[in-house]
Amino acid sequence: MNAFFDDWDDTSVPTVAAPEAPAQATQTTPAPAANAADPRLAPVKASDKRVVGGHGDINQLAPFRYPWAWEFFLKANRNHWAPTEINMAQDVQDYHHKLTPAERHMFENVLAYLTTSDILAMRNIGLAVMEKMTAPELQIYQARQVFEEALHTWTYQHCIETLNLEQEEIYNRYRVVPAIHGKIVLANRRLEKILRSDLDLSNRETLHEFALSYFFFAGIFEGCWFYNGFSPIFALQRRGLMKGTAEQFQYIMRDEVLHCAFGLRVIRELMREENLTLDPKAVAELWAEADATEEAYANYILRESILGYSADLHIGQFRFVANRRARQMGLDEPFPGAQATLPWLDEQANLRKEKNFFETRVTEYQTGGSLEWE
Ligand SMILES: [Fe+2]
Ligand SMILES: [Fe+2]
Repeated sequence: MNAFFDDWDDTSVPTVAAPEAPAQATQTTPAPAANAADPRLAPVKASDKRVVGGHGDINQLAPFRYPWAWEFFLKANRNHWAPTEINMAQDVQDYHHKLTPAERHMFENVLAYLTTSDILAMRNIGLAVMEKMTAPELQIYQARQVFEEALHTWTYQHCIETLNLEQEEIYNRYRVVPAIHGKIVLANRRLEKILRSDLDLSNRETLHEFALSYFFFAGIFEGCWFYNGFSPIFALQRRGLMKGTAEQFQYIMRDEVLHCAFGLRVIRELMREENLTLDPKAVAELWAEADATEEAYANYILRESILGYSADLHIGQFRFVANRRARQMGLDEPFPGAQATLPWLDEQANLRKEKNFFETRVTEYQTGGSLEWE
């Protein structure tokens, strides 16, 4: 699996910035001394910052304590697109004239699940997580993430409109299909536990709940469910079908890979600062719930196998990816021995088969106007 889709390797950026020793400071005037009249206006030090409960100034970007977070923000800004820039003409033909009923069933339910999930993702990062952060470099990436989740919702809506799907039916599907509802209910339960703005993160139990919920969100909801959620569509693309939709999803997947990597890094940082360990029993419960709901979902959207894809392949890949997310957090693998079931995924998920998105020149994919469609 190549580096990009395995995850962006963010470990090359130091965990903690060397505080207050900027090499470029030679042209600047000396830092002002602390305001003796008001100690709250003393210059901010990087060491004042923490993921939560920090004493820096939330409106002052630098000095960075988490320079890697700023790097994430810069990387995220290189993945620009708008759904209207992708040619969907062939998808309209494919959907109405080439897909089998089983393929249409899968396609519609994937869209129904993803569109509800992305609104939930936007609310979670914007309302439950971002406000708890006390370092602006963390918040600024999360602000970008909020926008990206909204952009993803626009993308699904654009696909639904372009294919002339019945909107009321698609958007209400998660409410009436238990296998979709189950995933949303589980995610909402996690979201509701940390949504309150008066959450007391100085309480160890509450802090653990917050870390666990954020891990569920970044590692499972985004890192497994979303990451794996596009695969059925890539299976169609592999056979030359629904290529416009698949290209839309390639762009979304690039965002989601960063969302997952960023979230896991923040949680690792939080745990280190707060000397916190995730309770293995609680983590095991998370995996069990996530696996059961993913299995029910896979068995519903793929109640009939389609050419080259099945519920077994889907759940097998979920477990393989889940192990990787656990390793990223230093946790035990929840599904020992799980093997990758989709050897073609990298090739199908890579936009125009770039070797590594983040090593490619910015001008090749910056802004939709300069993109070329194959
Ligand atoms: Fe998203
Ligand atoms: Fe996301």
